[in-house]
This record gives sequence, C-alpha cells and structure tokens, in this order.
Amino acid sequence: MCGIVSYAGNKDVIRRIITGLKSLEYRGYDSAGIAYMKDNKINIIKKEGCICNLEKEINYDDKASIGIAHTRWATHGKADDINSHPHRQGKITLVHNGIIENYDILKKELIKKGYIFKSDTDTEVAAAVIDDLYNENNDMIKAISLATEILKGSYAFNIINDDISDKIFGIRKDSPLIVGISEDGNILASDIPATLHVTNRYVVLDNYDIVVLDKDHVKFYDIKGKEIKKEVKIFANDNEVISKGGYDHYMLKEINEESEVVKKLISLYTNSGKVNDDLFDIRKYKNIDIVACGSASFAGQVGKYYIEKYANIRTSVYFASEYRYQKNFFDNDTLVILISQSGETADTLAALKLAKENNIDTLAIVNRRDSSIAREAKDVIYTEAGIEIAVATTKAYLAQVIVLLLLAIKGINNETEILEDLKLLPNIITKYINDYDYENIADLIKDKEHIFYLGRGIDYYLSMEGSLKLKEISYIHSEAFQAGELKHGSISLIDENFGVIAVVTDKSICDKTISNLKEVSARGAKIIAITNIKDDNFSDYKILVDDYSEVLNPLTVVIPMQLIAYNTAKKKNCDIDKPRNLAKSVTVE
Ligand code: AGP
Repeated sequence: MCGIVSYAGNKDVIRRIITGLKSLEYRGYDSAGIAYMKDNKINIIKKEGCICNLEKEINYDDKASIGIAHTRWATHGKADDINSHPHRQGKITLVHNGIIENYDILKKELIKKGYIFKSDTDTEVAAAVIDDLYNENNDMIKAISLATEILKGSYAFNIINDDISDKIFGIRKDSPLIVGISEDGNILASDIPATLHVTNRYVVLDNYDIVVLDKDHVKFYDIKGKEIKKEVKIFANDNEVISKGGYDHYMLKEINEESEVVKKLISLYTNSGKVNDDLFDIRKYKNIDIVACGSASFAGQVGKYYIEKYANIRTSVYFASEYRYQKNFFDNDTLVILISQSGETADTLAALKLAKENNIDTLAIVNRRDSSIAREAKDVIYTEAGIEIAVATTKAYLAQVIVLLLLAIKGINNETEILEDLKLLPNIITKYINDYDYENIADLIKDKEHIFYLGRGIDYYLSMEGSLKLKEISYIHSEAFQAGELKHGSISLIDENFGVIAVVTDKSICDKTISNLKEVSARGAKIIAITNIKDDNFSDYKILVDDYSEVLNPLTVVIPMQLIAYNTAKKKNCDIDKPRNLAKSVTVE
C-alpha cells in the first residue's frame, strides 16, 4: 500500500525523508515522489518505478526546510510519473494514502470552477478541494476540517502550502498516520519503521485528528479546530532493528523467527499448563464469525477447525470483502473475530465497523499495536510476532493460528495435555527448516504453469495458505482444492504437466484423500505429498513430517509449505520480499 513520510528539521531534510521512505518499501509500490520547500518555493520530483529512480533526480544537498514524500501503489490511474504523488493544485501540495470515493463528481465541480487536472488520480482532486477551501477561508486548519465534510472514503494526507513555508499539515481517516517527535525535527509517516531513524517517540493519530508540525513544534487539533493533547508513546522494540539479519530475504528471516514467536505466545498467554484466565473467553458465544483477508482468513479456517473441534462452537469464516455486503444473521450470542497482521486492512476494518454497528462483540487478533483494527475492536489479542516486513506473511500467520488454538482449548479437559504438545512445536519448526531438501521440491514445480494444492478437512484449510504462499511469490497459478471434490469436474484439468501438492496429515480421513490422489496419478500427474504417513503408495515425492498428535500434526506442515514457496520463488528469481502488484497492508477496498 502507499507509504507516506514527511519531515521538518534543521538539516538533512531530504535525506531523512528518503531514508524513511525506503523503510516503507516493503509495503509495495510502483512509483515515488517528494516535494520540499527550498527558499520559500516548493520543488516536486516524482518518478515511476523504484525510489532509486527518484534518487537519480534528487540533489541531497538542497537546503530544504520541510518536505513530504510518497510511495504509490496505483489505485486510480496507471503507474507513471504524472499519476505519482505528490500532487499540486493552486497553493496546495499533498500526498495521500487511501481512496476518495466521490472524486469523480468533485472533479467535475472543480473543473467548472476553473481547476485543470493533469493526472487521473483521486488525490489531485483532494488537493484541489483543499486549495479551494483554503482560498475561501485563508485558514489551513479550517480548510482541512471543511474538506472532511466533502471528501468521502479513506485518507491520510500530508500537506504543504506555498504560503506557509515552515509547516506540514496532516490528517487521517481510516488510513494510518504516525507522528514522530524529537528535538532534532519532527516526522510524519504511514508506519512506525519510517520514523525510527529520527526518533522512537511517537503519537498515533485517531480519525479526524489534525496535526500541524514544524521543526520545533507539533500541535494537534480536533476537527473543530480546537487544540488537543495526544499521548506520546515510546517504541519499545528498539532492538528490533529492521534488517535481514544475514538472511537472503526478510521472508526467510521471518520463517526462522517462528520458533521464538511460538515460545513467546506460550509464555505470554499460558501458565502452569493452562491458558491464562485473562485471555479472551469464547465459551459464552454460540456462533463465531471469523472475518479476514488473504492468509489471515486462511489462519481463520484452521482456527475454525480447532474451535469447532475443541470448543464445540459453530464457526464460519468469511472474506472481509464479501462479509460487508452479504446478509449476516447477527444475534447477541454471536462473536465476530477479525484477524489482521497489519491491523489496517480496509475490508477487515470495514467488517469490524459493521459488526459494531450491529452491537456485536468484536475480538481482533492483530500483530501491530496501535493499528486501526486493534483500536476499534471491543477486545484485542496481539500475536506478538514482531514487525513483519516480507509482503508474504509467515510468522504472523502461524501466530494467528496459535492464538486461535489457545482460544479453542481454554478450559477444556485435555487443555494441559495439548499445551504440553504445543511446547514441542518450536523444536519441530527448527527441525523442519533445517532437515529437509525443499530445493528438490522447488526444482520439480518451478516450471509448472498450474498447481493444485489438495487436502481434505484441516489439510484442505492448510492447503489454502500453502497455495497462496506459492502463488504470491513465485507467480505460479496455484489453487487449493478439496481432494474429494476434484472428480466433480476439475479433474478434467489433470494431465502429466499439472502440478499436484497434497497435504495428508489427518489420519481420520487420509484413506479417502489417498484414493483421490490415486485418481489424480492415474491421469498422469506426479504427486508431491507433505505427509506423516510412511507408506509410499500414493506419492511420487514426499516430505515426511512426524506424526505427533491431532492438534500438532496440522501445524507441522506450515514450515514445509512456506519453504516450498520460498525456494520455488528463489529458483525463479522472483522478488520474494516485494512480489509484483502486492502490498503488505491493503488499506484500500
Ligand atoms: C499474505 O501473504 C498476503 N500478503 C495477504 O493475503 C495478507 O494476508 C492479507 O492482505 C491480509 O493482510 P492483514 O493480515 O494485514 O489484514
């Protein structure tokens, strides 16, 4: 998603802005730009492609007093120099993260007022709206406040004005905005990593908070223009330096962090063989809707399996983008669980708001503290996986599954026995990272055009994530498919060129799955199995995982699935940490 970084300081303004922008690259983007004030004149440089293209045009020695910058993930208008941010209209220059839903009608009205638009973006329209209001009121805070009554949709704006050479203005609605405060200048950004090179003191803006900052001061106002106080926090994980730590990719580093994440969750949320009393209790609910996007929703599917099996509560999993528009049967014993690594996913945030509007209890399972979803939900459980940089989630996905398992087993008869099993997982993870040859599997599938990830029950739910991981970083078309359903049509696709990866760990239904795999083999496809079943009559290649217990077995395939995807993408020289077209946090609908 788009990244914003703005800074007001005494020196190195441009360099500090670009440094911050580079720490947001993981969010995914297709163009970048900067606008800075020098000798009371605004200079704008913006280029399609990487920040490195922008740097070729920048003079770091320019003595800028303030600047705003942006990495764009195209929504309105293709990725090119003209559509990239910052956008300028009249005296207003701004950058934007979000979507203005009514930009089209506003654009027509502004054209009648004489505005001329150069780009196809909604953002340029927002700049014109604010410029028009500033011209009417000659007051930036009033202009911004009035603009919130006109602009529909989501936004985080950073704005500079020709008339005010030392100040940066910011406001947010449903897109995140963080203020970094220091004695050596003040910074605004979409996410904390972009502020840490300046300060570890930060303020999280709430919706409709307005911030006005210069190199020495930061002031906050409410939407009526009244000055307000905001809590200044300290970013505790200073030692969590954003670096690859010697690994080739952030994704591989984060896979290798999974053992520690599991240990941390066990120590945080359990004690003496029991789930902590103060961990949210789902047992009073009769229906649970798990709502999320992408991998988070697939973690929810595994959570559904655990909750229905151990807590005996009917659970449904929905994509947030659908949930908002479908008929929902809310009643007062329904719980809606929102799962999100970033805590900023627009569709998931909107589903949360829908549940709240219907007075339904909401529990967020989130990785990022102070994120919008964490702040909006009635209750929240943090997955404590640490900052996840790779666009393809790994450690956060596993952490989400673990938290859902803890919710499911809280208070059941064999809770202690299950937690004893769970303590084995960190070592299992380490073993599966180091003791298996995933490169061999990657060689088998890297040239495939199409791959089915097959499974039944929990193995199918796990296949959903295995398939997405493979697809999103290797660009191979992959589909998770219920093994038992193939023969009802889709088996027509199978031939000797079709890739098949099967997850077979659930002993209660593995015979049926094996029969399905034989139907697939009979049509020429080679089967790669991730399985704990030793006999060899159903697969051509095998990753043999250990057979621990019904609760642990599903979790043992997570690492093989992640590393099959990683090694396949690596052999295809894909951009593993920043796959094409993708963003780490999808803050638009
Ligand atoms: C995961 O590898 C993907 N990058 C994507 O599906 C992601 O899980 C999804 O966009 C949800 O993001 P969130 O967890 O931050 O809400």
